[in-house]
Amino acid sequence: MIYREDAFSLIQKYVPDENRIKHSKASEVVLCALAQRWGEDEERGGKMPGFCMILALNWTCKSFICNRIFNTYKSSNHKKMNLIIREETRFDWPQITKINNLAFGHKDEGKLVEKLRTTDAFVEGLSLVAEVDDCIVGHILFTKIKIVNDEKKHESLALAPIAVLPDFQNQGIGSSLVREGLKKAKEKGFKSVVVVGHEKYYPRFGFKPASSWNIRPPFQVPDNEFMVLELEPGSLENVSGVVHFSTPFNDL
Ligand SMILES: CC(C)(COP(=O)(O)OP(=O)(O)OC[C@H]1O[C@@H](n2cnc3c(N)ncnc32)[C@H](O)[C@@H]1OP(=O)(O)O)[C@@H](O)C(=O)NCCC(=O)NCCS
Repeated sequence: MIYREDAFSLIQKYVPDENRIKHSKASEVVLCALAQRWGEDEERGGKMPGFCMILALNWTCKSFICNRIFNTYKSSNHKKMNLIIREETRFDWPQITKINNLAFGHKDEGKLVEKLRTTDAFVEGLSLVAEVDDCIVGHILFTKIKIVNDEKKHESLALAPIAVLPDFQNQGIGSSLVREGLKKAKEKGFKSVVVVGHEKYYPRFGFKPASSWNIRPPFQVPDNEFMVLELEPGSLENVSGVVHFSTPFNDL
């Protein structure tokens, strides 16, 4: 038998921030954890007890409410939006994959994020989600890269991918993700960020063509779509070379 204390310690284990226990995915977390335990326990024959079913129901209702919220925001008044940018947790992974696939319109992008998480390029705390009233609607990822020339390897970051669910685009969510991501990257001691993207979007955050520093992409891309931002002014003064992205980017 699993007692209340077990459930509570599971919550504490998987949901470190106490506030999240109150309002967020606690039911989902406990449910997953308990279901996993029950599945492993043959004596119980994989059966879930009643209170787990209640949690499941609670969770399902929450998904329903999320869909209602999506539809409400879709149709009108976006000013009501209660936006939070926070670090991802492992319970966000399926939704992050979904958001990337939906925003880009194909499955490669979700896969890319999943693969990047398993590499050394992944930086704890630099995969962020945008949450609107408890539902994740956007995601941004920064991974380590190297700017390489004959003499030196210089560590930097790549901003990629960034995705916002189509119904939530053009409301400032992408910009909030970029700004918070850049702030966190700076706090972690990174000095610059590289991005491949639209020349009209990224300059608003301070990105400039990488060619100004003789920093070059490893593939063909228009000059003004390959950009760099110095998180610390002057940090790229003596840096030039070709950018080496983490291996999963080569599979795209
Ligand atoms: C790019 C993306 C993350 C922006 O998120 P968002 O929440 O819509 O962005 P914001 O609301 O902060 O900013 C909206 C502005 O970005 C512009 N914008 C959005 N997508 C753009 C794109 N692909 N190219 C150029 N500009 C774009 C909009 O025209 C708008 O401009 P304005 O402020 O001058 O009116 C989002 O559109 C998205 O997920 N797109 C699909 C995936 C993608 O292309 N990712 C980026 C790869 S580089």
